[in-house]
Amino acid sequence: MRIDVVSIFPDYLAPLSLSLVGKARTAGILDVQVHDLRSWATDRHHTVDDTPAGGGAGMVMRPDVWGAALDDVLTPDAHLLIPTPSGTTFTQRTAETLATEQHLVLACGRYEGIDARVAEHYRASGTRVSEISIGDYVLGGGEAAALVVVEAVTRLLPGVVGNPHSLVEESHGVAGLLEYPVYTKPPAWSGLDVPEVLTSGHHRKIERWRRDQALTRTAARRPDLLAALDVAALDKRDLAQLSELGWVVVGGALRPVAE
Ligand code: ADE
Repeated sequence: MRIDVVSIFPDYLAPLSLSLVGKARTAGILDVQVHDLRSWATDRHHTVDDTPAGGGAGMVMRPDVWGAALDDVLTPDAHLLIPTPSGTTFTQRTAETLATEQHLVLACGRYEGIDARVAEHYRASGTRVSEISIGDYVLGGGEAAALVVVEAVTRLLPGVVGNPHSLVEESHGVAGLLEYPVYTKPPAWSGLDVPEVLTSGHHRKIERWRRDQALTRTAARRPDLLAALDVAALDKRDLAQLSELGWVVVGGALRPVAE
């Protein structure tokens, strides 16, 4: 996969040389190129922004500078991603879809964002354009969001994560549940023991305990995920555990009893 990132703070993307993403690049699985938007600015001061049309606070990024940059960086099969708090929510499903692409281009805006004509123009010219938000909070710019997107996508590329099974059980994996708690050695630490079942060697019991823990955590922390769960994927033991947690199937969906 090829990923281009365009930003006025190229140094912000330095972590893309580290850890999992850095290894994927060294292994030749991923080709990442970071570009300085200002190198496409044509005036003496390398201006990339101007005052908002219609007035108001802050500055808006100029479409002509972005257009020059994106004309150079986009390829016919590229998917243009624009991180913005007003985008559709980036989820594990989005990461899975993007991991099948050949070429992603991330356009990192700053200030009040990028002139809306940029997304409109590239959409009209046949480029796939997605404006994406990594969560309901406002960052200073798209760079931190770009780091999030690149890392979430890269770990799904074939050959990057050693054991692909860990991609199934983890939080927001296909099970639709949060992951169960994990433990390692030493067996006793600070007066706290690793749960006995995990050292029993009884694989079926361990699997059941982990599933119950995942259901318990999800009920406590993310009830919205339980409500969206496909009940056909639940077995009798799941339903028993859920009923202990106060969740029952009503009209084909899980609902809290107290509601
Ligand atoms: N830029 C500023 N805030 C953002 C967010 N929440 N997601 C993506 N890009 C952003």
